[in-house]
Amino acid sequence: MLIKTATEIPTREITDESLYLKRRKFLMGAASAAGAALLPGIGHGATQDAYRQLPDVRPGPFGTDEQPTSFEDASSYNNFYEFGTGKSDPERRAGSLRTDPWTLKVGGEVGKPGVIGLESLIAPHQLEERVYRMRCVEAWSMVIPWVGIPLGDLLTRFEPTSKAKYVSFQTLFDPSQMPGQRRNVLDWPYVEGLRIDEAMHPLTILAVGMYGRVLPNQNGAPLRLVVPWKYGFKGIKSIVSIRLVEKEPPTSWNLSAPHEYGFYANVNPEVDHPRWSQKRERRIGEFFKRKTLPFNGYAEQVAHLYQDMDLRANY
Ligand code: MTE
Repeated sequence: MLIKTATEIPTREITDESLYLKRRKFLMGAASAAGAALLPGIGHGATQDAYRQLPDVRPGPFGTDEQPTSFEDASSYNNFYEFGTGKSDPERRAGSLRTDPWTLKVGGEVGKPGVIGLESLIAPHQLEERVYRMRCVEAWSMVIPWVGIPLGDLLTRFEPTSKAKYVSFQTLFDPSQMPGQRRNVLDWPYVEGLRIDEAMHPLTILAVGMYGRVLPNQNGAPLRLVVPWKYGFKGIKSIVSIRLVEKEPPTSWNLSAPHEYGFYANVNPEVDHPRWSQKRERRIGEFFKRKTLPFNGYAEQVAHLYQDMDLRANY
């Protein structure tokens, strides 16, 4: 099947003029932030003001009214093994990632495969803010105001076929920009997957920003997955490829330690991680631990997706 490259897709095929203007605004924001990230002094301890504000962001559904984690914590305590395995490594080292220009390839079981620039990808959509609880498998949690678009809306544009049962995601592979990829800590590139109903669920978003601004590199700029009822490792960062597929795709943490990390990775206080409990969590910025909720508190929205499944076997 013929796959068009970004330069081959004429603008008019993608968007009308008002959306084109919005797209330019989006691009300008992203470009400035990429520049800002290169300035000396910005990096460790940078405030959110260092990142360009995203235009036209509307409040979206499903937001929690819990107190958001501070931007400083959310952007300095990260997992992004492409920049090192320490929590502070991504903030110190992710400045080497070039996020503009950026293209996403969408293929596999779709009627309209293509390679599309980030700005064209986002332009037809309304950017929404979703304040989500996020729970890491390492038993800490945060509340993050993401900015993004529902993944389902985006996938629909590429016309999934009836054979599209799962969605497979891939991070950029470029050891010159991502020095952690020179070490064998994971099989590179980082890959993740969702079942198609999980991907199409309205809670699932592709984020391009947080706290009203473009994503810091360490949080997965310029495009990352956010699935708030699953452990944080499902939130693959800096995505360059999405494929709709017939069979369950491989996922990085499952490949690396299958007994510890399953494909589903739903937040489940009843199923311990082999090396620690999942019953409680420490909200970053708080002293006392709190109880972990099934599906991270989103059971009402998503429990039905798994009603016929044994969630101990499908962890
Ligand atoms: N994506 C890539 N490409 N590489 C990674 O190492 N780490 C995952 C996930 N996405 C990771 C990734 C893990 S383990 C977690 S907990 C979340 O990103 C952390 O997201 P945050 O740093 O924005 O909180």
